[in-house]
Amino acid sequence: MDRFEYRDGELYCEEVRVEDICRDVGTPVYIYSHGTIIDHYRKLDEAFGEIDHLICFSVKSNSNLAVIRALAKAGAGMDIVSGGELYRVLKAGVDPSKVVYASVGKSEEEIEFALQAGIMMFNVESRPEAEAINRVAGRMGVKARIAFRINPDVDPHTHKHITTGKGGTKFGIPIDEAVETYLWAKERLGNLIPCGVHCHIGSQITSVEPYKEALSRIVPLVSELRRNGLEIDTLNIGGGLGIVYKDETPSTADEFAAAVLPYVRDLGCKLIIEPGRFIVGNAGILATKVLYIKRTPHKNFLIVDAAMNDLIRPAFYDSYHRIAPVRIRTEETDTFDVVGPVCETGDYFAKDRRINLVEPGDIISIFSAGAYGFTMSSNYNSRPRAAEVMVIEDRYYIVRKRETYLDLIRGEAIPGELM
Ligand code: LLP
Repeated sequence: MDRFEYRDGELYCEEVRVEDICRDVGTPVYIYSHGTIIDHYRKLDEAFGEIDHLICFSVKSNSNLAVIRALAKAGAGMDIVSGGELYRVLKAGVDPSKVVYASVGKSEEEIEFALQAGIMMFNVESRPEAEAINRVAGRMGVKARIAFRINPDVDPHTHKHITTGKGGTKFGIPIDEAVETYLWAKERLGNLIPCGVHCHIGSQITSVEPYKEALSRIVPLVSELRRNGLEIDTLNIGGGLGIVYKDETPSTADEFAAAVLPYVRDLGCKLIIEPGRFIVGNAGILATKVLYIKRTPHKNFLIVDAAMNDLIRPAFYDSYHRIAPVRIRTEETDTFDVVGPVCETGDYFAKDRRINLVEPGDIISIFSAGAYGFTMSSNYNSRPRAAEVMVIEDRYYIVRKRETYLDLIRGEAIPGELM
């Protein structure tokens, strides 16, 4: 359930009219519903209530400080992939002992930063990376808890760009090499504590079957590792839970838990789950203003003031985002391509979409934009990035100011010789 709903033809986020926010803050603007974020987090947290577990929010999906803070206050841990994300979660006041750190290419500086902060554990993706963590930990005189990310070779049946747990991707250690890799680390890398098993098979997964398949390979691995003398206390099953963008029927938190729990209930491990999209995807919209309506013999275009630099998912993944005016003027509809001002044919939000008729100046909402929306945005075409707003019941807060032209050139310099 999300808290974006129409009342008398006008879109509300919780108790605030979206049009009011747009009038005050301008467009394009990302608008997040605090209540929805917390509701999604709690649903998952409660579904796993019977076992020792931690929901680590995947910060890459939405790294705004307010979002991180809200989830941390609700009890969430964090799944991070860079020093920058670590910086953010520390700034937001997250308990570092609830932070897990993945990514195939952590630099020594990032590893040192994470060890200094005292994170819970690293998810390690290769032997050279394990050696690097061992080296840095040795230098600092500390021990690093690690899980190897195991690639179970499971097809999650999702878009190829977000398939990660299949053989042939860059992610993780092939499951056949898992035991020898753990034994190698245990014997050779004295500053590591190999105490976890991690796996993440992909994103926007709508059925529980791929998870069950992965678990049926990963859970026996935990037992095998223990038989080999490793003390495995943590199982991290990654994120990837799918959401409704259009007409998908993803599993609910309870269905997901019902599928997972039989595998892990008696394992004696702390269970970690790393959802991003499930928590924030439908908790955010991108509101944008219609600049022009262009009718051609072939097509009709709604030209809006947001563009692919603000939300790249349609261009990058062919993804579908529901689109509708925030104020419905009429039941009459027409077919439009919704496009931005950027000079690329790929700059679109929807193609051949039936949309209620609008006029220039009207605001439309691009739904399900809370995950991988702002975080994947850029300054392409020298477009200042959008503002971000969080709504909490009947109040709203600007949680990131719209960028200015000055922000665009911050840090740039012209060599003196060119002056
Ligand atoms: N854990 C790991 C190790 C991951 O790589 C990811 C996402 C997650 C957790 C969170 O996945 P989620 O629960 O959000 O599906 N930009 C793409 C999605 C990329 C996902 C990358 N990894 C998109 O917009 O669809």
